[in-house]
Amino acid sequence: MAIKVAIIGCGGMAGGHLNSYLRIWETVPGKVELTAMCDPVKERAENFANKVKDVTGKKPVVYDDTDKMLSKENLDGADICSPHAYHHINAVKCLDVGVNVIVEKPIGVTVKATHAIIEAAKRNGKIAATAENIRRMPSRRTSYWLMNEKKMLGDMRMFFAQHASYRAPNPSANWHWRLDLMLGGGGMVMDSGAHYCDTIHYLFGDPDTIYGRVSQLEDQKVTKNGEIVKDDQEDTWASTINFKQGTVGLWTCTWAAPGHSFNQVVYYGSEGCLLDSGDIFHGPFDGAKVIMKDGTEYPMPQLIEEFMNSLGEAGKNKLFPHGFTDGVLLECYDFVDAIENNRPPEVTAEMGLRAKSICESIYESSACGQAVKYEEVVAGKINKYQKPIDDCWEL
Ligand SMILES: NC(=O)c1ccc[n+]([C@@H]2O[C@H](COP(=O)([O-])OP(=O)(O)OC[C@H]3O[C@@H](n4cnc5c(N)ncnc54)[C@H](O)[C@@H]3O)[C@@H](O)[C@H]2O)c1
Repeated sequence: MAIKVAIIGCGGMAGGHLNSYLRIWETVPGKVELTAMCDPVKERAENFANKVKDVTGKKPVVYDDTDKMLSKENLDGADICSPHAYHHINAVKCLDVGVNVIVEKPIGVTVKATHAIIEAAKRNGKIAATAENIRRMPSRRTSYWLMNEKKMLGDMRMFFAQHASYRAPNPSANWHWRLDLMLGGGGMVMDSGAHYCDTIHYLFGDPDTIYGRVSQLEDQKVTKNGEIVKDDQEDTWASTINFKQGTVGLWTCTWAAPGHSFNQVVYYGSEGCLLDSGDIFHGPFDGAKVIMKDGTEYPMPQLIEEFMNSLGEAGKNKLFPHGFTDGVLLECYDFVDAIENNRPPEVTAEMGLRAKSICESIYESSACGQAVKYEEVVAGKINKYQKPIDDCWEL
């Protein structure tokens, strides 16, 4: 029987999820059926449903309200791509009627919101997955392998992921939910930053202590319904992340640095380094390379080939089923396959919480003016920064 899936929140990112389920439908007949599409802006759900009909010949039912959908449909899974503040609200509703969920990063809007999702999954015996696409791609899997299995770089000592550039404030730009602290939960530390914190958690494990300083140095404003309003997102952060196994990372970013721009992402071990080629959020990228102590260089495509050859058929099928290498396709496939085979997904809500708590530790450290213990943030014991958001959503 095909796994019946609904998409909740049919906006930008959900389009990638929709295409992925359609690709699964085409590649593995009978694995998944897109049953319903739900968005408070009904035309968006309608557009998604029409796309499904064009490919499969069967149109999912269209809803503008999650409760209405859950009362009518007999779903196996819901894929939640709403604004961050509505992640836990939608997820808990689904889980409480026995529907498994995959929730876009950064899972809950706060640590408490994420705990609410985890608890709902536990009390109902259902799956709560975090939609994390970045770590699943070949260059990221290869980076994990070369650092943690092949141990090509020796003992991992430190990393630097640093960006500086200047973006002039643009008050005429349109407001978006991301720019409102209550809806977004934070700025890029936890938006695109959720990906990077998942990657460093994947590569280096749990942090011990984190120090962060976060600010908005330029006066950021945007236009909402003709009015100039505040953009709540930070434009600058500097953080030091001390991992329990000894690695230390400096993750810093500013878009308030006029005059000179730079971008540098590099991971150092005792024998050499992995020099990345791209931004401070989504790598290590295909253009990265390893440089050993003696100067020998290994470009990422060569390392990917070696990694793939080391996997064997079973390993390849586990990480890249049906030859899929796109991260969003792989996360959607993992969700459907986990429901079908009654197994945990790779990136559970608990793992989403651990990645997200690195981001929240940076905010909490900045709010408290001192380094914080990561585990205390994971447990929800430190929430000075998150408290107004928790209060807003009665968490
Ligand atoms: N993995 C990635 O690379 C990636 C990239 C972009 C966005 N995202 C994540 O995807 C999610 C959605 O972001 P987006 O950029 O697609 O935003 P978006 O604004 O394009 O889409 C959000 C959609 O949710 C709908 N919505 C609003 N309130 C809702 C509610 N209460 N219940 C259900 N739906 C509601 C909106 O009408 C809209 O269609 C976020 O969690 C974001 O962080 C992930």
